[in-house]
Amino acid sequence: MSSFIINGGQRLHGKIEISGSKNAALPIIFATIVTKGISKIVGLPNISDVRVALDILKSMGATIHCDGEAVYIDTVMLEYREPSAELVCQIRASSYLLGACLSRFGRAHLSAFGGCNFERRPIDMHLAAAVSLGARCENGELTAKSLHGSDITFKKTSVGATVNAILMASGAQGKTKIYGYAREPHVFSLIEFLRGGGAAISFCNDYIEIEGRELSGSCATVIPDMIEAGTYAVISLITGSELEISGINRQDLSSFFNALVRGGATLVFSGDSVFPQGIIDEFLSVTTAPHPSFPTDLQPIMAPLLAAFCGGRLTESVWLSRFGYLSLLSGFGVKYELNGSSATIYPSDLHPATVEAPDLRGGAALLIAALKAEGESRIDSAQIINRGYENIVNKLRGIGAQIKEIQ
Ligand code: UD1
Repeated sequence: MSSFIINGGQRLHGKIEISGSKNAALPIIFATIVTKGISKIVGLPNISDVRVALDILKSMGATIHCDGEAVYIDTVMLEYREPSAELVCQIRASSYLLGACLSRFGRAHLSAFGGCNFERRPIDMHLAAAVSLGARCENGELTAKSLHGSDITFKKTSVGATVNAILMASGAQGKTKIYGYAREPHVFSLIEFLRGGGAAISFCNDYIEIEGRELSGSCATVIPDMIEAGTYAVISLITGSELEISGINRQDLSSFFNALVRGGATLVFSGDSVFPQGIIDEFLSVTTAPHPSFPTDLQPIMAPLLAAFCGGRLTESVWLSRFGYLSLLSGFGVKYELNGSSATIYPSDLHPATVEAPDLRGGAALLIAALKAEGESRIDSAQIINRGYENIVNKLRGIGAQIKEIQ
């Protein structure tokens, strides 16, 4: 358990280097299970979710070593073992063990997968995909003598189910088509990684087509974390700073950047950097939806920004009740009204508060409010925020924020 102590109200200066994406790194780490060989992954973020994922692989017999920026994962000697409940329950991405283990070993254990519990997180579509490839689901386990290619159609866009379906189909005999797939950048970076190991994967607008085969080790450079980039862009605007946010992929964040510009902010792009400037001078409405629409993970991040300027409306179409963090944000003076899957945020004077981080992005929203509010705030359970933001305390200190972490 740790806490952040923040003396807010400071203007910040300088450059933030964006780290590798958590949501891209984790599927690639679990995808090494499907490959037999040594994979090289460059730019893994040093965050607890990644460390736990690597520990899960080690517990299954993988050999892992680091060399500077690169991590090498050798999965040749991997064996099926029921994963440690203590590790699995710490991260949501452990649900990728379903697809990866079924693909490689023909069995996978249904565990209590962890992660942020802002809402019940079903896995019915992951299981339906496994069943359509020939797996049986009984007694808390998925089993299959062999998987065979099939057509999978998702009724709803799901990143998790898409990743699992890709992992399963990569080890299945014959061709699989996945309709209604998620188009997040991290889905495509996973596909690139698997292709590097010999996977036959192609995609068109309607479906991803995979012809299963034995895969060898591969290489990946983890793409930049678009949620981290969005978080620092909001920090720059709310604190009236002119930060340079470097190492971004502008295209991945276009719906988020468009929303900021619609609200009145100025974004200056140069190479792979963005300099967010100005103020939000309009009531701003955003609605989350699967990529390329506004990402649900940036919805909580927007709330303090809207409160500090002209207010706005946040509507969820991915996680309809992802607003639990708002009652904690009200501790900073944020006024809001919740109406089903929409929250109206009113212009508010932010003041310091002592609060507890409820989940990763909700916790980041509290941290943003604390950076804006003049005076000392405290955020308990800060380890939840460290789960998704590499080196956040030092990065913020490096641009002049007064923040420290205490155990
Ligand atoms: C989702 C987000 C992802 C974000 C993550 C954590 C989307 C499409 N996905 O990914 O960007 O990083 O949360 O905040 O924006 N669902 C089912 N059945 C299933 C699986 C999912 O009904 O078997 C529903 C969920 O209830 C949810 C939606 O599909 O409403 C999206 O879920 P999914 O994309 O699977 O969640 P994550 O992979 O965690």
